[in-house]
Amino acid sequence: MKDKIFRIAIDGPSGAGKSTIAKAVAKKLNIDYIDTGAMYRAIGYKMSVCGVYPEDLEAVNTVLAVTDIDFTDGCIYLDGRDVSDHIRTPEMSMMASICSTLPAVRKKLVEIQRAMAERKSVIMDGRDIGTNVLTDAEVKIYLTASDEERAQRRFLELRDPQTYEEVLEDIRQRDRNDMTRKLNPLCRAEDAVELDTTGMSIDQVVERVLEIAAHKTA
Ligand code: DC
Repeated sequence: MKDKIFRIAIDGPSGAGKSTIAKAVAKKLNIDYIDTGAMYRAIGYKMSVCGVYPEDLEAVNTVLAVTDIDFTDGCIYLDGRDVSDHIRTPEMSMMASICSTLPAVRKKLVEIQRAMAERKSVIMDGRDIGTNVLTDAEVKIYLTASDEERAQRRFLELRDPQTYEEVLEDIRQRDRNDMTRKLNPLCRAEDAVELDTTGMSIDQVVERVLEIAAHKTA
């Protein structure tokens, strides 16, 4: 695995632990981690700062044309500014999910994501990485967990806490949005290994992902 270039694609629903696991695996393998959800959140953040409604496609396109997105060293940059601290609210989760249904948004971000994964090993997480962004990734994992466990994890990590029931409802609403949208909906790639992390510790999941990666890239 050492000198070979390989891409690990991790997809799955909200709260399945994708970013926690991907970050830990990236560190173990000394490769870059790319959080594509943060990119959709940054777009959602920009639309709300600019007062643009996602239904107003003309305004969306105008804003997109002058929007620069980058993800480096674990931080999300919007027009050169680190906005990592602004994108993790329940409102931005919903804005990101809505903006991610827009073809112009997906086109722009997928181009950036593919360019980031060129000529280097990366682990990238999102909803359409194995099925669309990096269809030729050497390793594909579909990470999932029960609705209740995912809501519990989100509930514990939220800075601006909602009740557990509100978090669970949000998660189910986002699952519906992400799995039923027309363009590149969330689904398991045929060649992805499905990993249900319900009841598993972070260390156990990381270990399992490393085993799968070692096996697939041997
Ligand atoms: O992973 P996350 O919760 O930060 O993602 C926020 C939203 O962005 C999610 O509801 C769906 C969307 N998204 C997407 O459509 N495609 C991706 N590759 C990543 C995220």
